[in-house]
Amino acid sequence: PMHPVVTENIEMLLNIFRKEEVSFHMSGTEAVMCAVQQVRFHTGRPLIAVFKGAYHGWWDGVMQGAGNPRFNFDCIVLKDKCPASLELLKMRASEIAGVLVNPISGMGWGPTVTASLASGGDKVTAGPESFDRFRKWLSQIRETCTASGVPLIFDETWAFQLGPGGAQDFYGVDADIVTIGKAVGGGHAVGVVCGSHRLMERRDPDRPMRVSFVVGTFKGSPMVMGSMNAVLKWVRSSDAAAEFNGMRDRVAAWVEVCNKTFSTEGLPLSVAAYRNMWCICYHQKSVYNFLFHCYLRDAGLQLVWVGTGKALLNIEFSEQDLERLTGMIVSSAKQFKADGWWYEEASTPSLLPLVLGPTLKYHSSHILKMFGLSK
Ligand SMILES: Cc1ncc(COP(=O)(O)O)c(C=O)c1O
Repeated sequence: PMHPVVTENIEMLLNIFRKEEVSFHMSGTEAVMCAVQQVRFHTGRPLIAVFKGAYHGWWDGVMQGAGNPRFNFDCIVLKDKCPASLELLKMRASEIAGVLVNPISGMGWGPTVTASLASGGDKVTAGPESFDRFRKWLSQIRETCTASGVPLIFDETWAFQLGPGGAQDFYGVDADIVTIGKAVGGGHAVGVVCGSHRLMERRDPDRPMRVSFVVGTFKGSPMVMGSMNAVLKWVRSSDAAAEFNGMRDRVAAWVEVCNKTFSTEGLPLSVAAYRNMWCICYHQKSVYNFLFHCYLRDAGLQLVWVGTGKALLNIEFSEQDLERLTGMIVSSAKQFKADGWWYEEASTPSLLPLVLGPTLKYHSSHILKMFGLSK
């Protein structure tokens, strides 16, 4: 028998994510594995399409590039906001089991922020406009998937980062399957998949002996379900909506104050933010910009996601916390400047040969096989 909170959680999840069925898992990675297995099972097609740079957990079935030791033949990587990607989806629809989208990573500040972190430059477009562009792009993917009969999966493992209604509400675009994780467990390890009856069904309606085996000893464990219950109740409350909006307004005001301070102090930096996501943009070219986060750490600020250049603010950060944050960035930047890391004419080395060379060498036998050149 299930504890009543499990039924309550299912009802709340179905309501928030507008789907017909839910399954529980032990991590975001597993939720993605389940979603991918389900679309393969029901379409009978081999390929999963993902977008460049999007993280979907550490499973080698969807992980791109560095860190994945497997040459991934059943996962195709497409470019965000590119009409050719939509054409490819249409052309190869009969092979594609599903399109997996991370509705934050493609919003337009991934590679540009990383480039800014690595060298400097004014290319960062983080902010509300990049979200609008991404909203348009997501609806084009939705239309293409619908027209081509390819299921669309939103990987929202970072649950509720865009607001209490998740990415579907935020962008006004619905997916066929949504995977959720992290905060939805209220501090406990969790993964959730919400989807239609048709795609969540573990049996083949035409061949009863053909099943999709997705299980887990600790899926839906009582402790996780209990804390999830509290999270979901809070997320649906008016308090949550007020807190999300309060944070949005505090952060927007902080960006203005912070940037004004940089310009008064003559520091070649700016911050860009959208809701609780923010990044530092470097306007002075320097191959040493990546060292700035070490100065921040010395000032007491430990950034997460340093590698991508993106950072997150907690929802409960007050105006005083944000003021402190400005102080830390400004004092670090003054010291960084005084130490001479920002200098004119700093050239930027091309990282491509450094990455491409070893990658090609490592995968050369697979690549030769792919083109029929190996013996
Ligand atoms: C979009 C996305 N998908 C999947 C995962 C993997 O989740 P977990 O770390 O719970 O396995 C993450 C984690 O960062 C994520 O951000």
